[in-house]
Amino acid sequence: MTTGDGPEGRPQGPGAERLIRHATLRQLQLLEAIVRLGSFTRAAEELYLTQPTVSMQIKKLADTLGTPLFNHVGRNVEPTEAGREVHAACRTILRTLSDLEVRLSDLAGLRRGHLRLGVISTAKYFVPEILGAFCERYPGIEVSLKVTNRNRILERMAAAEDDLYIFGDTYDIGIEVESIYLAPNPLVMVARRDYPLVGQRGISLVRIAAERFLMREPGSGIRDSVLRRFADAGIRPKVYMELGSNEAIKYAVYAGLGISALSLHSLTLDHGVGRLAMLDVEGFPVERSWYLVFPRGRDLSLVARTFISFAVEQGPAIRVLLDATLADLKAASGLVPEGCVSVPPSPPCSGHPA
Ligand code: PGA
Repeated sequence: MTTGDGPEGRPQGPGAERLIRHATLRQLQLLEAIVRLGSFTRAAEELYLTQPTVSMQIKKLADTLGTPLFNHVGRNVEPTEAGREVHAACRTILRTLSDLEVRLSDLAGLRRGHLRLGVISTAKYFVPEILGAFCERYPGIEVSLKVTNRNRILERMAAAEDDLYIFGDTYDIGIEVESIYLAPNPLVMVARRDYPLVGQRGISLVRIAAERFLMREPGSGIRDSVLRRFADAGIRPKVYMELGSNEAIKYAVYAGLGISALSLHSLTLDHGVGRLAMLDVEGFPVERSWYLVFPRGRDLSLVARTFISFAVEQGPAIRVLLDATLADLKAASGLVPEGCVSVPPSPPCSGHPA
């Protein structure tokens, strides 16, 4: 028996009773989010609470513990030394609860459970459809979907905030991962249909670098891919404007503000293709792929493993949709029948669901 244990080996450290009576798991979750995000406001947004609720709960927790937990530094907050200690304990407690959730939902089979997916912005064009079909097949499973740009998804993966991630390719992920091929993710160079370069064949990247280029925001995977494609040719595009989403880029291209590289997926759902044309540029389409990704060595829940198999089964349907979109673009671009690039074949995967 260790010091501080009760007669039956029950932990009874000083203060534990007080914490059990007065602190709540919600308060611990809030503290964890505030430390991670550096702000009460961002934590409130992430957890769908108001900022005053967050402040009140943290004040209650500080009162229970008898010590301040945060210092205000300008517009941000930093944990006090006590706050850092509580944060370390919170992470352990929340991780244990999340593992317990995984084990219990495995026990319940697929009748209930939770799937947390983090996907990069452009995946929003096809992931909801897969999720819709998945939720129909497994109605007891609750799904949360976080859609944000590549850099933010990398941060979420480092903090183990979700079960699975979807990336537009797997370069520079920074940690050891398993990646499972899902579908093609080609990047096409687009312009408005009346743009002077439309219909020309084999346009050089040097020529494109002289055009007004519309670029996604820093942190975007598409931005990184485009810059790498230009850098490989030893040139830089002339960035005329930076825009924070694929939709903003599309509308700016419609408006004749410039040209850009877009994921073919961003053109599948709407009628935008009719107003856009594909430019036949050397090195484009950039042939990339979507992957389901999770940190190597991580135990996946039954729900997550089932989702992987389910999503992979949808790959061929996604490809059919992309092929049809590419055919429309070709037709709009006067590049039919020759000189067009088709969606590349599936590459082998680097890992399999556990
Ligand atoms: P993004 O990534 O949405 O962060 O630009 C998309 C991609 O890499 O295909």
